[in-house]
Amino acid sequence: MTKPRKLFVKTYGCQMNVYDSERMSTALGVSGYQATDRPEDADLILLNTCHIREKAAEKVYSELGRLKPLKLGNPDLMIGVTGCVAQAEGAEIMRRQPAVDIVVGPQAYHRLPEMERHARQGAKMIDTDFPDEDKFDHLPRGPKMRRAPAAFLTVQEGCDKFCAFCVVPYTRGSEASRPAARILDEARDLLERGVREITLLGQNVNAYHGHSGDGDWSLARLIRELAKLDGLERIRFTTSHPNDMQEDLITAFGEVDKLMPYLHLPVQSGSDRILKAMNRRHTAENYLKLVDRIRAQRPDLMLSGDFIVGFPGETEADFQATLELVETVRYGQAYSFKYSARPGTPAAERAEVPAVDKTDRLARLQTLLTAQQKEAQNAMVGRQVKVLFEKAGRRQGQLVGKSEYLHAVHVSCGPSRIGEVLPVRITSSAVNSLSGELV
Ligand code: 5AD
Ligand code: SF4
Repeated sequence: MTKPRKLFVKTYGCQMNVYDSERMSTALGVSGYQATDRPEDADLILLNTCHIREKAAEKVYSELGRLKPLKLGNPDLMIGVTGCVAQAEGAEIMRRQPAVDIVVGPQAYHRLPEMERHARQGAKMIDTDFPDEDKFDHLPRGPKMRRAPAAFLTVQEGCDKFCAFCVVPYTRGSEASRPAARILDEARDLLERGVREITLLGQNVNAYHGHSGDGDWSLARLIRELAKLDGLERIRFTTSHPNDMQEDLITAFGEVDKLMPYLHLPVQSGSDRILKAMNRRHTAENYLKLVDRIRAQRPDLMLSGDFIVGFPGETEADFQATLELVETVRYGQAYSFKYSARPGTPAAERAEVPAVDKTDRLARLQTLLTAQQKEAQNAMVGRQVKVLFEKAGRRQGQLVGKSEYLHAVHVSCGPSRIGEVLPVRITSSAVNSLSGELV
């Protein structure tokens, strides 16, 4: 028998890429590949790329430069680039780095096993189409292996919002929702594999509008249906746009016990002038009112956000408005970035804020956000939370899991508790995690 070929996947960027990498690995597993975590052992290396951060494409080209010499040691080695940089750069990737055999965009990777076969015959394979078929239908799920208790499930992809700074509408394409029935099937399949928590993924997840023969499905309807599945203990969803937080989704926070009290709700800026320039189509006040309405349903809601400082035209007064909004909202956790131009986006044409101002504003915003995160974590000490145990912790005899509020919690207990949701009293708070003991 021939030795199975080995696959190494390196994933960049968001949770959707983590999910996509898993699906691609399963599909190639059916074609006979086995996973390896050593690129030097691999017969196929895939870089599943992200285009959202600065100089994303350049970083991929340097990584490809580092991988190229591996082809000398293994003439069978093929290299593929998948994900959003593949979509944005297309054939340019092979022009700049001839060692690349396969380029496939995020909407076409169900064709990857077939492309792999052709590439083995020596063809250079590129596919950056946005095909009509649902790629998820064409990907095998693979054998019923046990999985980690928390899983991602993509329900929606792409975005039609066209925020002036963002590449997503160009790389992931226009907004598309998967049919609800397929999602429910996939959820049942995950539950059979031991999954207890599902995070529904979408670039604009709360714009979800599936249709499954019996009318329209909003994200809230999908969540309510998922909550009926035995064995599923927790539901989360990310990432949401403020303008798509419909009433039924807001009330779900108060009514669906399995929906966890954590919401990632990016605002980007607290200045109405900048929000307008960003094409966000909401004001700071709209956002604050929305937060109040959701908190009225779930007073203990932990909020997370994304912020951009130094967007073209941002003044110190605009930045102050962002700080004020953060003071008002009080975030449990947040991501903040200096604006940087993405070629092809409207904001890339505009005059930039000086780099020193961006650096200074980011430092001030992060100081405030870090203090709020610390405060939210400290407030957990002494409280009882429920932890879904996911894996071994840092220390011997320790497990780590997530609380309802998505805090990582370290607890001393035996490995048999993985996959269980247990009450834990929080005893201390560290920089990015909590510690506690079983109650
Ligand atoms: N510059 C800086 N940050 C950006 N983001 C998206 N595009 C840019 C950009 N051009 C941030 C936004 C978004 C998060 C995923 O990345 O805050 O919500
Ligand atoms: Fe990008 Fe999010 Fe705006 Fe869509 S809503 S364009 S994904 S920042």
